[in-house]
Amino acid sequence: MSERLALLGGKPVRTRPFPAWPIFGKAEEKALLRTLRSGKWGRLDGNEVAGFEKRFAAMHGCEHGIGVVNGTVSLRIALLAAGICAEDEVIVPPYTFLSTASAVIEANAVPVFADIDLNTFNLDPQAVEAAITRRTKAIIPVHFAGQPADMDAMTAIARKRKLVVIEDAAHAHAASYKNHPVGSLGHMASFSFQSSKNLTAGEGGIITTNDNALAESSRSIHNCGRVPKGVWYEHHVISGNYRLGEFQGAVLSTQLDRLKTQTNTRDRNGRHLASRLANLPGVHPQQHSAACTRHSYHLFMLRLDSQAFGAPRDAVVAALRAEGIPCSAGYGFSLQRQPLFLNKAFGPYVPRTSMKLDYARTHCPNSDLVCQQSIWLEHRMLLGPHADMDDIVRAFEKICESARQLTDYARRRKIPGAS
Ligand SMILES: Cc1ncc(COP(=O)(O)O)c(C=O)c1O
Repeated sequence: MSERLALLGGKPVRTRPFPAWPIFGKAEEKALLRTLRSGKWGRLDGNEVAGFEKRFAAMHGCEHGIGVVNGTVSLRIALLAAGICAEDEVIVPPYTFLSTASAVIEANAVPVFADIDLNTFNLDPQAVEAAITRRTKAIIPVHFAGQPADMDAMTAIARKRKLVVIEDAAHAHAASYKNHPVGSLGHMASFSFQSSKNLTAGEGGIITTNDNALAESSRSIHNCGRVPKGVWYEHHVISGNYRLGEFQGAVLSTQLDRLKTQTNTRDRNGRHLASRLANLPGVHPQQHSAACTRHSYHLFMLRLDSQAFGAPRDAVVAALRAEGIPCSAGYGFSLQRQPLFLNKAFGPYVPRTSMKLDYARTHCPNSDLVCQQSIWLEHRMLLGPHADMDDIVRAFEKICESARQLTDYARRRKIPGAS
């Protein structure tokens, strides 16, 4: 006799909350007060951002770090610094947050979607090769959920075709690939410090690179087109003020002290959870590539094959929540299906005549399938003890045992996927 699901009136597996995010304490208070009292609140007045940039870049194997207002602007600045311009094509995955592609449009270039791998959820190198045209100038591999993309393949393709590689590492602070930190694997990388991210100051972003010229160009673009030896009102390129503020720099520096330990905890818990959940029918956690030496687990993500599991994905998400396991279904649909792309609602960017692509014909079946099947758990869920993982596993097992009752419930409630 299976246990009654919490969604159907039973006792939930868990009532205790999982760790909250963000985590902060006296160190953040001290750093903020120090900045407040210094009266130096702007990037160009104090040393908080400058100090953070140096430490963050070094931790990610880079000479240079340029702190900016968010992880969308950092992508756009990286593209502009790399010389991407109108009519250029940039290959991006379709299973990512909007910014990976919208930053390309805002750099006045054309995002071209290449499908992801069904097991790792990262860009499929073969799909990248197939998407290359004579106009292709760059690739933006996303280290999705915190697992580094196949960077050996990406850099090999880029070398052969003379393309720029910009890592979108918005999910991947402190992750590593073959023991090399992400952020140093392409020509440039972009990170986000928005409030959901593994390192946060509410908002913010950074560009990392080991290329002096790209760093200098990015620094100029983030600072109104100024140059190192120029005078204050001297502007060399079209740009604006995208500088990170000192309060954010102060918080980020203290958060950085916590990052390595937190990442190791997530990595350990995430691997354990994946190995346990993979024993259940139809549950396919993100496959760990052998090259991933540290997964930052911004998300713990899996595909649920509803047929094999015995209940529709959306009903399983509702059932997990009722069992005390916060989760979501992730992106509703793949980026190439967003109205923005279908209608090419690009505002002043990319003259319509130059836009030959018909996004309705873009074929990304793996990304489409992952959108239908994904379940996401936030990284904070992996910050507790090992026993927390057992609760998550127990909830999945319980739901699996009562899959038939859950499907009946889903049919009555007309939950999508329950026919
Ligand atoms: C993969 C990816 N790239 C870029 C961004 C953009 O970062 P921000 O929100 O700081 O602009 C995000 C944010 O969620 C993201 O998930």
